[in-house]
Amino acid sequence: MIDIAPSILSADFTKLGEAIGIVEKAGATVLHVDVMDGHFVPNITIGLPVVKSIRSATEMIIDTHLMISEPGRYAAEFASAGADMVSVHVEADPHLNRTLNSIRDAGAKAGIAINPATPLAALDEALQYADFVLLMSVNPGFGGQKFVSGSLDKLRRLRQMIVEKGLKVRIEIDGGIDEHNAADVIDAGAEILVAGTAIFGNDDPAAAVRRLKDLGTVWV
Ligand code: DX5
Ligand code: ZN
Repeated sequence: MIDIAPSILSADFTKLGEAIGIVEKAGATVLHVDVMDGHFVPNITIGLPVVKSIRSATEMIIDTHLMISEPGRYAAEFASAGADMVSVHVEADPHLNRTLNSIRDAGAKAGIAINPATPLAALDEALQYADFVLLMSVNPGFGGQKFVSGSLDKLRRLRQMIVEKGLKVRIEIDGGIDEHNAADVIDAGAEILVAGTAIFGNDDPAAAVRRLKDLGTVWV
């Protein structure tokens, strides 16, 4: 099954609850929440209190993407705050086994996020401890960037790697996803499609969700 995951980074924060209601009603199943610390990435966004508030406002799966240094210090707290999925960057954490275990112990799915220029080899050993991989198809930090072209090939190689290892790890793709490349990334192995600008930057976010969902149905 293909999940469409609107990223609230591109939503109007003065009407966040309303924006969440619109995409949920339109059929989005995952809500993507970008947590940035101004250290691992050059931008600061939101943290635990907002995740707690969102939890009470939606039934969707809450997916927190931690773009923070030393994610092991906070990962489990995001799960306790109500996140159902928590991903940490392989580039930020030398203790992935411990961090991923802490997320699972706190009751959430544990994910490894990986930047466009980080080789997949960095996942080789850690993959077995993860429930999903978040493949970045832009450099993390901002919404509205262009899909990095090599990401499609990387996606295929990641799918291959997971199959060869006999694992059931899902792949989430994040950055520059829209109606034009959605079918391609699904074909290459992505199962969770994050989209910020393509949904909340659209005049009709509900219609944008529905169109992405339809592409997912056709391609599965
Ligand atoms: C970027 C974030 C993305 C971002 C995607 O650092 O991880 O989740 O919101 O936004 P779009 O879809 O606009 O590229
Ligand atoms: Zn993200």
